[in-house]
Amino acid sequence: MTQLQHITVLLHEAVDALVSDPDGFYVDGTFGRGGHSALALERLSPSGRLLGIDKDVAAIEAAKSRFAQDSRFEIAHGSFADLADLIADRGMTGKVSGVLLDLGVSSPQLDEAERGFSFQHDGPLDMRMDQTRGQSAAEWVNTAAEEDIAYVLKEFGEERFAKRMARAVVAERQIRPFSRTKHLAEVIKEANPAWEKGKHPATRAFQAIRIYVNNELADLDAVLAQALEVLAVGGRLVVISFHSLEDRAVKRFIRRQELGDPVPRGLPIREEQLNKRMRSCGKAIKAGDEEVNVNIRSRSAVMRIAEKIS
Ligand SMILES: C[S@@+](CC[C@H](N)C(=O)[O-])C[C@H]1O[C@@H](n2cnc3c(N)ncnc32)[C@H](O)[C@@H]1O
Repeated sequence: MTQLQHITVLLHEAVDALVSDPDGFYVDGTFGRGGHSALALERLSPSGRLLGIDKDVAAIEAAKSRFAQDSRFEIAHGSFADLADLIADRGMTGKVSGVLLDLGVSSPQLDEAERGFSFQHDGPLDMRMDQTRGQSAAEWVNTAAEEDIAYVLKEFGEERFAKRMARAVVAERQIRPFSRTKHLAEVIKEANPAWEKGKHPATRAFQAIRIYVNNELADLDAVLAQALEVLAVGGRLVVISFHSLEDRAVKRFIRRQELGDPVPRGLPIREEQLNKRMRSCGKAIKAGDEEVNVNIRSRSAVMRIAEKIS
């Protein structure tokens, strides 16, 4: 198998925002191939620590071989949606100096046909980041109700022709159930009456199915709340998103923590009673032209940073 690379997005910007205390305990919730982790480790002293998390067994193997010699580093296989438990097990609740999330899929996941994420390269229709559990994309598209398929394509892919595509998928699976990515891509392509220039007609549908199969938005909601609990006061949450649904969730979460608890209008209440938990650190950061030129994936990246204040 060829060794597929992942080019880390917003590398310095993210690690600069994350690491403020070289002796601190940090979490890289999306280890991937360890681009951010490697730079974070360079910034840590001998007493600093970094916990990496990833759903993907290939990422865990990469972590073990890359940082086996570094006693400051530990890798955990699982979802970042279990962050609170992973941190509680290590006795670090309320003491974490920073949590980084670089969301979505890695380039090796996308590029390796066998992982089943790609509509370009034919492979088994899998799409699971964690292939040790859960339902594959094939199992889902072959059994889900037509309305559920339409809902997923619309909600998670913002696909205009969701209903039409769902109908085509259900009709096709009665003749020939889906097991390959190309088969699904072709059926969706045919059902899409409005091809956008420079974009494969199944792009949005594939994104939607991937988000659904991997429970991506629910995991994100779960980790944001848990990050707030595990962080120390002064600790940072750094999140890089790649599509609007993710970024909207992150932005809204930070805003809610900045505003504090909702209070009925006119109720006399002191500022400190509002329970404000975070402050946003600057505006959303995007990749510059130079980075986009060498890594097209960075074009859609948006990074937000927030600091825990109470
Ligand atoms: C964009 S890549 C991260 C790349 C990494 N920052 C680097 O520089 O190599 C996203 C990674 O997060 C993992 N991932 C996505 N959702 C996850 C979740 N809920 N829990 C744990 N890992 C997740 C994916 O398996 C993938 O390896």
